[in-house]
Amino acid sequence: MKKEDFPPDFLWGVATASYQIEGAYNEDGKGESIWDRFAHTPGTIADGSTGDVACDHYHRCKEDIELMKELNINSYRFSVSWPRIFPCGRDNVNKKGLDFYKSLIEELLKNNIKPMLTLYHWDLPQHLQFHGGWVNPETSKAFVDYAVTLFEEFNGLVDLWITFNEPWCISFLSHQMGKHAPGIEDYPTALKVAHNLLTAHGETVKVFKERGFSGKIGIVLNLSPVHSFTDSPEDREAANFMDCYKNRWFLDPLFKGTYPEELFQVFVNNFGDFTRGYQDISGASEKMDFLGINYYSRDVVQYDGGEILKAKSVTVEAERTDMGWEIYPEGLREIVSKVHKEYGAIPLYITENGAALKDELKNGEVHDWQRIEFLKNHFKSAYQAIQSGVDLRGYFIWTLMDDFEWECGYTKKFGLFHVDYDNNLQRIWKDSAKWLREFLGNKVSLE
Ligand code: BGC
Repeated sequence: MKKEDFPPDFLWGVATASYQIEGAYNEDGKGESIWDRFAHTPGTIADGSTGDVACDHYHRCKEDIELMKELNINSYRFSVSWPRIFPCGRDNVNKKGLDFYKSLIEELLKNNIKPMLTLYHWDLPQHLQFHGGWVNPETSKAFVDYAVTLFEEFNGLVDLWITFNEPWCISFLSHQMGKHAPGIEDYPTALKVAHNLLTAHGETVKVFKERGFSGKIGIVLNLSPVHSFTDSPEDREAANFMDCYKNRWFLDPLFKGTYPEELFQVFVNNFGDFTRGYQDISGASEKMDFLGINYYSRDVVQYDGGEILKAKSVTVEAERTDMGWEIYPEGLREIVSKVHKEYGAIPLYITENGAALKDELKNGEVHDWQRIEFLKNHFKSAYQAIQSGVDLRGYFIWTLMDDFEWECGYTKKFGLFHVDYDNNLQRIWKDSAKWLREFLGNKVSLE
């Protein structure tokens, strides 16, 4: 199976996020983000690092686009740093921030690489956090204004727009578990955040359509197939709750305008407060053009009598990446097929998929054959989904180069390119990048 066996207009790309690669954290008028503040707080990041410099993509953007061109990709998914555009989150626009993204987009177009722009990949302006962040509905309003500023500025240049990256992480990982900025551990807060995000998404889609901007708009969810550890009724019920929590808490509002009833009741029983003002999620289901899915692994779940979900993930015997995530390529086909079947035939993109591995640089080379295997098997799974009738339109690998991996700092390596932090951040082709170049050039097959 070769690249030419995929649909001719299929998008093959790489994905990145502003805070993870740009650096230049306080340059050209950029305001502070919640990730600047979080990473600078001792004890939050595994290696004590920050994204202050990261891959310095802000200054090396042209060089990085050249690498993309050489990789033979035809699309690039990146995110805009909101505080570069509005240092305080709203009101005064920072022209230099707009200029940076404009030149990035123009350079991509010049190289026939289609931009896919994510409006929010987690770097909220810290100023808005001072006023409650995503718990405050004013943040949702500020988001819509920020989105419209970019729609107006890049109308006709950007064809694919994404409102949010992974609302599950923004709400639960960041506000219930406190692992990501702003580091809050409060369940009801996480539920309010999810609600406000989903509402802001719906409102943004509505404005985009009403104002007749060109291009298409969607959202990105991180989804995993959830499997029950045994066939017992308890385990199966636990798997259903985990599915509601990880997947359906976002899918149902977006496509049906309602929360999954069984989990909603659990939250109402546990957090009475949630019932006041946070029931009606119909505003989230404004019709969008596509759904992006970030697929990394599956979840195997067992009953555990816990208070809220009564479910816990179990570690089964399997090959795993350096994140500890099970390598499970067939889950890609499974999750896109499930969405296609249960939520209608909306165009889908795999907006992230990739593997963190213990790559080693030796004599200027990185022999990451496991990443090549990983990609081959996931590409095959995508191909099978397309063959079975799923409207899958593109595939974005996470990620272009080793970067700041959030709470893991620089300890986890997902890149196709190695970044030599000891040698002026030089980008080095890993074997996987060389393989991808050949595959996308139709020179090698997946066998
Ligand atoms: C995020 C990326 C992240 C990747 C690997 C996704 O959840 O969107 O920003 O780096 O997973 O952890």
